[in-house]
Amino acid sequence: MPMDVTAEVFRLETSTTSYWFRRTRFGHLEHLYYGPRLPVDDDAEPLAHKRTAVIGSSVDYDPGDPLYSLDLLPLEWSGQGYGDFRFSPFEARMPDGVFAADFTYRAHEVLSGAVPPVSLTGAYDGDATLRVTLADEATGVELDLYWTLYEAADVVTRRAVLRNGGTADLTIRRIMSGMVDLPHRDLVVHTFDGGWIKEANRHERPLTYGMHAHGSTTGASSNRHNPGFLLAESTATQDAGWVYGVNLVYIGNHVGVTELSNHDLVRVAVGIHPDRFSWTLTPGESFETPEMVLTVSPDGFNGASHHFHDFVGRHVVRGPWRDRERPVLLNNWEAHFFSFTEPRLLELAKSAKKIGVELFVLDDGWFGARDHDRAGLGDYTVNRKKLPSGLAGFAEKLSRIGLDFGLWFEPEMVNEDSDLFRAHPDWAVRTPGRRTTRGRHQLVLDLCNPAVQDYVIEQVGAVLDSAPITYVKWDMNRHVSDAWSPTLDDQGEFHHRYVQGLHRVLTEIFGPRPHILLESCSSGGNRFDLGMLCHSPQIWASDDTDPIERLKIQDGLSYLYPPSTWGAHVSASPHQQTLRATPLSTRFNVAAFGVLGYEMDLKYLGRLELKELREQVEFYRAHRRTLQFGRFSRVHVPKANKVQWQVVAPDGHEAVTGYYQTLAQASEGFDRLRVVGLDPEGRYVTETRRQYLYLRQFGELVKHILPVALDPDGMVMRTAGRFRNLPDTVERYAASGALLASGVLLRNQFVGTHYNEQTRLLADFGSTLYLTERVTDD
Ligand code: GLA
Repeated sequence: MPMDVTAEVFRLETSTTSYWFRRTRFGHLEHLYYGPRLPVDDDAEPLAHKRTAVIGSSVDYDPGDPLYSLDLLPLEWSGQGYGDFRFSPFEARMPDGVFAADFTYRAHEVLSGAVPPVSLTGAYDGDATLRVTLADEATGVELDLYWTLYEAADVVTRRAVLRNGGTADLTIRRIMSGMVDLPHRDLVVHTFDGGWIKEANRHERPLTYGMHAHGSTTGASSNRHNPGFLLAESTATQDAGWVYGVNLVYIGNHVGVTELSNHDLVRVAVGIHPDRFSWTLTPGESFETPEMVLTVSPDGFNGASHHFHDFVGRHVVRGPWRDRERPVLLNNWEAHFFSFTEPRLLELAKSAKKIGVELFVLDDGWFGARDHDRAGLGDYTVNRKKLPSGLAGFAEKLSRIGLDFGLWFEPEMVNEDSDLFRAHPDWAVRTPGRRTTRGRHQLVLDLCNPAVQDYVIEQVGAVLDSAPITYVKWDMNRHVSDAWSPTLDDQGEFHHRYVQGLHRVLTEIFGPRPHILLESCSSGGNRFDLGMLCHSPQIWASDDTDPIERLKIQDGLSYLYPPSTWGAHVSASPHQQTLRATPLSTRFNVAAFGVLGYEMDLKYLGRLELKELREQVEFYRAHRRTLQFGRFSRVHVPKANKVQWQVVAPDGHEAVTGYYQTLAQASEGFDRLRVVGLDPEGRYVTETRRQYLYLRQFGELVKHILPVALDPDGMVMRTAGRFRNLPDTVERYAASGALLASGVLLRNQFVGTHYNEQTRLLADFGSTLYLTERVTDD
């Protein structure tokens, strides 16, 4: 029974966590506990707030009880104007025209399963839901708070529904999805921030007095601050210490707030960003927030991440692609940009097929006058100069090669130089009488307008039905400014109405076409959030395909989302985003932790490199279920220039570990490989994945490697380099799961003396993948 609920104390339980609160004598909800599971027969009293003396400068809620002050109580929700001076989850001009709201208990009910919002797509398949109805008795305004339990994933979601039970309009200026006051455990806030090509980098900030807010007002969840964040004990490691996780199932403007009060309570709130938000409810109308997601684990960052991974994998991502292995794709964007012809595409497709790719994705530039980014968005009629046999004809040719067909769209946008804009200038988002701003030469289509929604649903749907398309990349390449829609009386509704419109569009396009795998994208990871994951099982994590940058981006994402949710591609080096040169092996070794793709013009690769790609894809496909759906963990390496990731197969029969080095140091110390989470008693063999070194990596040292002395930059050397490479060091260890968890001492790295085949040659940006397989004794 996940809930033990009386009208006084609410005990919510998941497999390993407890979330308790109670009703105070005045009907407010006092937070008691959120942490590792407690025996349900424990009394609530030891956890309750105890105040025995009046505290100076506090406001008494009731003259009969000078010890009751809202500002000092750990709460589950707060109103406005009654003496709680911390960040309030709620601000509204109430039906009586004042900024006062005191939400107190009226009723509660336990409901079975999840009760997702109706105006937004939410998480699904929960175990039980508690609804507590609070009311502001002075006006009759009611607030339903929901807690839904996802027992096996150890997640609790929360959301709020405000109902105007008054007799006049009320206007909401701020309504969070949920809030909670946690005790301060010397917590550090970890946020995932960045910008274009540097998304989801983790940053930490000790919680000190005052408020910290991170969020987005770009109209999307944004690459600036992911909605997900963590609060971790300052001593927490990857595997030990309390870590709380917070996220929001929302695509749009959001804010996450943490505030340490002067009595050491940590208020945590998350919800729609209040900037330029206002929403009027006439009597009887209601407003529902998106869902807040909460988890907690005493097992460090990996513990919290595992809860989130299970939750996302089972209760956010949906449809037939949820558990299905995702195809290895080749995307033609970095190879061609806008400049391609059908023969060029087919040449690339044939090479892709030869290395084992399964899906060919035609990116931007296939429609209308889209030969550059200043024209064509909005006109999804195929460009016959580039694709003379149309999409169906092109798909047919791909199918003969043996490849599935995927297609790029950017349906939320329009160029002024497009037939769509010329026909419907009023469908583009602009504020009348004000300057029009543009991003990437484009305007946003007004998805608040049902006519525009209908148009997008119909247009994209028609293209999808015109050819055997099995994959769509849905892009969105600018922030929303000039927000205004002729369909709204209150422009403060714009951003949320847009998100609701987008949910409708995505549901109506992809609901009836479940065979299509949707990968969403927004200039890379500008919309990497749980709202999008309700529709698209995977998201293009970043336009940055440099693996060393990806070590930060994918690492950051892994705290909140599982690897099956992010696209990761091998691209040409030096990388188009950083000009950094990296080994081909490392590009794969990083992209293998995610949904693998290739994004480069294969015609520029030599025979040896193509062979290496073929082996990469073969390895990936052989271990794909583990790499996409295995248990992902970050393994701490006590050296700043190392990163280690691993995945263990759901049934534990194999594990893949990536060992990465950023900048090499002279005379590196000994490295250890730890493979955690295996059966301690089980017997395993750990072996390096085959990869290669290229002669050009050695410079003048090549003289010591080859039997003849050659000019390292000469013609003979360059020719030799095209036909000969060297196998990278092979290591093989047989060991128990217990030994592997404690660590295998690896061979030393190159230390400046001489080359031999036994030495690990990582240098700058080198890496190795280790495959660990269970062996039986017989
Ligand atoms: C965005 C995407 C890229 C590519 C281009 C096409 O930048 O993130 O992957 O699709 O648009 O214009």
